[in-house]
Amino acid sequence: MDPSNGFEETSNHDIKSFFDSSPPLKNAAEIKRKTEEFIQLNSNSGKLVRRIVLVTSGGTTVPLEQRCVRYIDNFSSGHRGSTSTEYFLKAGYAVVFLYREGTYQPFCTLLPNNPLLECLQVTDESNITARPPYEKTVKEAISNSHAATSSGTLLKLPFTTIFEYLQNLQLIASLMSGLGSRALFYLAAAVSDFYVPWESMAVHKIQSSSGPLDMRLVQVPKMLSVLRRDWAPKAFCISFKLETDKDILLKKAGAALEKYNMDMVVANELLTRKEEVIVVTKGGNIIVQQDRTRAGAEVEEPLIKLIVDQHSASINSAA
Ligand code: PMT
Repeated sequence: MDPSNGFEETSNHDIKSFFDSSPPLKNAAEIKRKTEEFIQLNSNSGKLVRRIVLVTSGGTTVPLEQRCVRYIDNFSSGHRGSTSTEYFLKAGYAVVFLYREGTYQPFCTLLPNNPLLECLQVTDESNITARPPYEKTVKEAISNSHAATSSGTLLKLPFTTIFEYLQNLQLIASLMSGLGSRALFYLAAAVSDFYVPWESMAVHKIQSSSGPLDMRLVQVPKMLSVLRRDWAPKAFCISFKLETDKDILLKKAGAALEKYNMDMVVANELLTRKEEVIVVTKGGNIIVQQDRTRAGAEVEEPLIKLIVDQHSASINSAA
């Protein structure tokens, strides 16, 4: 830490007080055990056989009550994270998929909203089969998903609140730090910027009979700088920038690249995010677009290819 830099001082204090005042992460010991086993499985008794990427996906919630009835949500369907996970797996990575409960899952993005009822039918008393036209989609979703989890290349861990997300991020990043430059962080989750500190949060449901709601939200400390500096200093780090105003998008992505010392920032605009992203790097900006000549082509395909190439170059230059 630079003592002449007031920002770093404040930031460290804010980060500590965020974690100190968060409710304890449920199942922390189990998450730690599963992640350690996953890292070990994808390493060969200490000799790494696969690169490992943490993909974060979906939005965090900010509870307004400890026994939560109401919360503030952050927009993200989880499509970016789950589709990217599929391409990372295809590229030979092992993926820790940290996702918001209830959002899109890898290999399932083509299924309709209610797959159980819309894709399946009971043909006789003991048989359930896929309903046309979903036979191929259902078969692929089930077999690809089971293959990835049972072969030990995909570990899925859920979160809901901002507290759970950031505690998971810290825990997993620290466990992955031993992988050095072979670890990759792909932070596509939409993370809340403001929250209600646990100790000042109402315990029970807030009563509307008390009149208008007057509530102070505190800024969530940005975790990117501490991830880069302390949790996993040698890892390849990619953050995302979402804006609805095109005119400020690249400026803000460039500022994040510098301020948090990211290897890449993926800039996307809400309305065009499925067609095009701009990858901001220290060497310049790269426009990545879906292949419009192929039906169903996804922007994540060329995006993950670009990332894998740049990650390889970074590993080679560190060797
Ligand atoms: O899920 P989809 O519907 O497919 O949409 C994908 C997406 C648009 C959500 C995704 O592509 C995207 O842009 N995700 C990041 C959106 C965002 O809200 O960014 P942000 O400005 O809150 O955060 C920027 C970066 O800082 C993120 O990488 C985040 O992980 C990180 N952050 C944010 C807040 C915080 N307190 N600490 C952080 O580290």
